[in-house]
Amino acid sequence: MLHLAVFASGRGSNLESIARAISSGNLDAEIALVLSNNSTSGALAFARENGIPGIHLSGKTNPDPLDFSSRMKSELKYHDVDFIALAGYMKKVPPDIVNIYTNRITNIHPALLPAFGGKGMYGINVHKAVLESGARITGVTVHIVTNDYDVGPIVAQECIPVLDDDTPESLAERVLEIEHRLYPAALQLFARDRITVNGLRTIHQPPA
Ligand code: GAR
Repeated sequence: MLHLAVFASGRGSNLESIARAISSGNLDAEIALVLSNNSTSGALAFARENGIPGIHLSGKTNPDPLDFSSRMKSELKYHDVDFIALAGYMKKVPPDIVNIYTNRITNIHPALLPAFGGKGMYGINVHKAVLESGARITGVTVHIVTNDYDVGPIVAQECIPVLDDDTPESLAERVLEIEHRLYPAALQLFARDRITVNGLRTIHQPPA
């Protein structure tokens, strides 16, 4: 069972899909904390409406980087968090948090990595880059977070075709549907202790 913190900056539809998977018995986890850098995010509103502890932590609340990461650390400790799921979190996780939670932080990315990742590759920018590249497939990647953007070990991927009449928005919509299914399923692999990491590769143990 995972004691999860979900970090999210915006709408929070991935947070909702994680919460749904938990209530329908498909994900052995509890959301112990929702953390957002955006005080008006849908994610924090969802937390409030559902009785989940939610905190706003940003450069506004804690301008000093050391203070920021020590507040993050103490909130995670206070809420007994043993795993962090980034779900549309548009900020870098401080290195000392990544080091404490080695191989225990995942991110969902709305394209196939390592082709379409890196700084500035988030949200609609990713879908624009996919279309501009002429790629005929795109998809979703769930990966482990390291101290560099979008390059940690890949846990799960699923692809879909890019259609001739796709726009960044239509791609975003179809990709999001996959995200909502793939992320809870990937987290369940961790909840069941089925993932080990070997360099850049993840090894998936068969179900018990
Ligand atoms: C999702 O599409 C997620 O993959 C993307 O932001 C969106 C958040 O939506 N994340 C990134 O681009 C990170 N590089 P949501 O707030 O509705 O979950």
